[in-house]
Amino acid sequence: MADYTIYPDVASLVDAAAGRFIEVAHKAIEVYGSFAVVLAGGSTPRALYRRLSGAPYNNQVDWNRVYLFWGDERSVPPDHPDSNYRMVRDTLLEGGLVPPANVYRIRGDMEPQQAAINYEQRLRNLFDGQPARQQQHGETTLIRFDLVLLGMGSDGHTASLFPGTTALRETQHMVAAHYVEKLGAWRITLTAPAINAAHNVLFFVSGDNKATTLQQVLQGAYQPDVLPAQFIRPEDGTLMWMVDAAAAAYLEQNP
Ligand code: 6PG
Repeated sequence: MADYTIYPDVASLVDAAAGRFIEVAHKAIEVYGSFAVVLAGGSTPRALYRRLSGAPYNNQVDWNRVYLFWGDERSVPPDHPDSNYRMVRDTLLEGGLVPPANVYRIRGDMEPQQAAINYEQRLRNLFDGQPARQQQHGETTLIRFDLVLLGMGSDGHTASLFPGTTALRETQHMVAAHYVEKLGAWRITLTAPAINAAHNVLFFVSGDNKATTLQQVLQGAYQPDVLPAQFIRPEDGTLMWMVDAAAAAYLEQNP
């Protein structure tokens, strides 16, 4: 059973998630000298990224040691309104907190399959020679991020792991590109094994439109092809769900 915490409103949820971000950042910088964090896309985390870019959080970590990655990206240019990179650029990065050289966006402006290959290669090049940040998974060596932030769609998807799609079955690569029929669009995404290799995973869910799905994901039958967020079970890492009261409306509270 995943560990979840309910917060009364979005503001307290955002502060809790910001606190967890800083906590993991401190530990990672202490151990590795840097903090490798995968950011979620969509709209929910916008408030979190904006909160981290301001006081007190903006001076609670050495941002020069923070390396940013994305859990998924839409197949659009970086200045497109739908770009997950642009959402972070306009919030967390607005004040220039993180050196541009530490920002590893997924190349949504590239042909999607090439973008997936490109991203995986850049990850491997960056972390090559850091065994503590690698994990053997069958024939594949996975990169172990310090923290992966994830949202959840009302259909149970996370990152761009959508129900019934080929990306759910990808186990040899860390990054996959696939055409999502229901969206009529290509997406590039970290795969479930790549996310599950992380030291820490944090789901950040808000809003009454997620309540039914959240109850199914956390307390219902294990059916990850239908509810891909259920694929996320870190092999050797923590899994936390931080949710607001609206999203938690149907959760049966622990007795
Ligand atoms: C994306 C995200 C996606 C998101 C969920 C929730 O690219 O859209 O990575 O997985 O986290 O769709 O999105 P909201 O936060 O907008 O509800």
